[in-house]
Amino acid sequence: MKTSLAAAVAAAYAAAFAADPPPIADLSAMLEVPPDPAMGDYALPCFRFAKNLRKAPPVIASSLAAAWPSPDIAGVSVAGGYLNFALERGAFTVRTLEAVRSAPGAFGVSDEGAGKTIVIDYSSINIAKRPHIGHLWTTMIGHSLKRLFENLGYSVVGVNHLGDWGTQFGKMISAYRRWGSREAVERGGVQSLVDLYVRFHKEAEADPTLNDEGREWFLRIERGDPEALELFGWFKEMTLRDVERVYALLGVAFDAYTGESFYNDKTRPVVDILREKGLLSQSDGASIVDLGSDGMPPALILKRDGATLYTTRDLAAAIYRAETYHFDKCLYVVAYHQDLHFRQFFRVLELMGYPWAKDLVHVSYGMVSYEGSPLSTREGHIVYLDDVLDAAVTKARALIDEKSPDLPDKDATARVVGIGAIVYAALASGRIKDVDFRWARALNFDGETGPYVQYTHARCCSVLGKAAAAGLDWSGSQPWSPDALANDEARAVLLLISRFPEAAADAARKYEPSILTRHITQTAQAYNRYYYEHRILYGEPSSQRAGVILTEAARDILKRGLYLVGIDAPERM
Ligand code: ARG
Repeated sequence: MKTSLAAAVAAAYAAAFAADPPPIADLSAMLEVPPDPAMGDYALPCFRFAKNLRKAPPVIASSLAAAWPSPDIAGVSVAGGYLNFALERGAFTVRTLEAVRSAPGAFGVSDEGAGKTIVIDYSSINIAKRPHIGHLWTTMIGHSLKRLFENLGYSVVGVNHLGDWGTQFGKMISAYRRWGSREAVERGGVQSLVDLYVRFHKEAEADPTLNDEGREWFLRIERGDPEALELFGWFKEMTLRDVERVYALLGVAFDAYTGESFYNDKTRPVVDILREKGLLSQSDGASIVDLGSDGMPPALILKRDGATLYTTRDLAAAIYRAETYHFDKCLYVVAYHQDLHFRQFFRVLELMGYPWAKDLVHVSYGMVSYEGSPLSTREGHIVYLDDVLDAAVTKARALIDEKSPDLPDKDATARVVGIGAIVYAALASGRIKDVDFRWARALNFDGETGPYVQYTHARCCSVLGKAAAAGLDWSGSQPWSPDALANDEARAVLLLISRFPEAAADAARKYEPSILTRHITQTAQAYNRYYYEHRILYGEPSSQRAGVILTEAARDILKRGLYLVGIDAPERM
């Protein structure tokens, strides 16, 4: 819609000012949605043209209105420096619904990213730990961004940058050899590794030599000692096996599990380059990159004993990704408590002279606390992700038993609805806000929630089922009457449908899935108002078809929108 308006603006501009108009894509990006629908469906602010044209914005708006070539697309009016557009209703209705129909399940898909690659580093869990509720954000924001960029034609590489390197794994081995057994750990899973680790820390307080033993085992991992490697590999395998169930519930999959240990043999060249470029200095025996002139503390590259750090491995990882994927952008979905870390290592890459350093983006999100205080594994103040997902599915199952006892496939639906509630709640509040996790809120299925949107989608499916059962044929060859949709409720649905592609593109560009959760929630609300106010399967077949085609478009948009934020849409619930 915006593109045809923008093309008409370009024509009016050329005619009115006998000058080259700005590119259509720029004009399209300038179009705004007026705050009050009475002003129009779109508005073009003319202030930016003033400098080139040497005319006042209201004069420019009036000249454009006078030269307006496309009354069949929209009527125009002038308000100050704005040119307002009122879309022509009949043509707009037909254009919108036929556009959705001609791209089944793919309305809003574009090729603006064709040939370009985006790498997304997300979820990135740590080995021998259980993912907690905080991991829901990085996992689902990353997953949604993956789908949103694919929707724009990019090829996307999803990377799980596993936390699988560091002295803590030496301590784990030491703890396991002292107090663990293969059977107990196989039985207890990752939780038993966590327990061993907590015990290690307690006992090390009384007996600090334990720490030396832990360091010794880490050295053995580094040197490739077979026993150490075998145990470490087993811990890793178990963690991944455990988290696989969570990823399956969430529908998340990665293209690569290249974690920190993957870069062990790739950090040496990074250190060499830093030294050659004269960026490395010594501080207390450690090697650092001084970032004082950027107002930041130094980036630590090597410890006194020559061991690499988190930052060193992230530098190697970024270089590896640039060389392997030739990315257009590389996104890191990580909470904002790592802001400084990202600013530091992005800056170091810039100093190293990599032109792609500007394409690294820290997509940060708010901190997650639980019932008012920070999450802490050691203090047991923690909510595990799998427990939350299981509780939501259980609750959804109970609701289904109560409200839809005849539903086939109750378990599958309960899974989709329960997970949908959790995922929607995580994404909808907006990426940057801090979140305090509360059970009652997470398990709320009423009001503006995932299940509400899912329910509206199921309602659309049911209307379509009834229409088909009544023998109505609304396939492309059958005439339908746009006049039947000339009412405020249908019009509100149509406008939201027509804006869906922009909402999805905007959500990707701003790395903000909540733009889309808001858009589909509004679409569901608008559809429900239409559904309550108007009888769809009533009157002339050509009128019935109009309502059914609108319903079908709403269903497609809700389904696609839910998909793009990582939520499934059951046909019945
Ligand atoms: N494993 C890290 C953590 O739990 C997150 C890693 C994020 N990705 C990265 N490339 N640094 O804090």
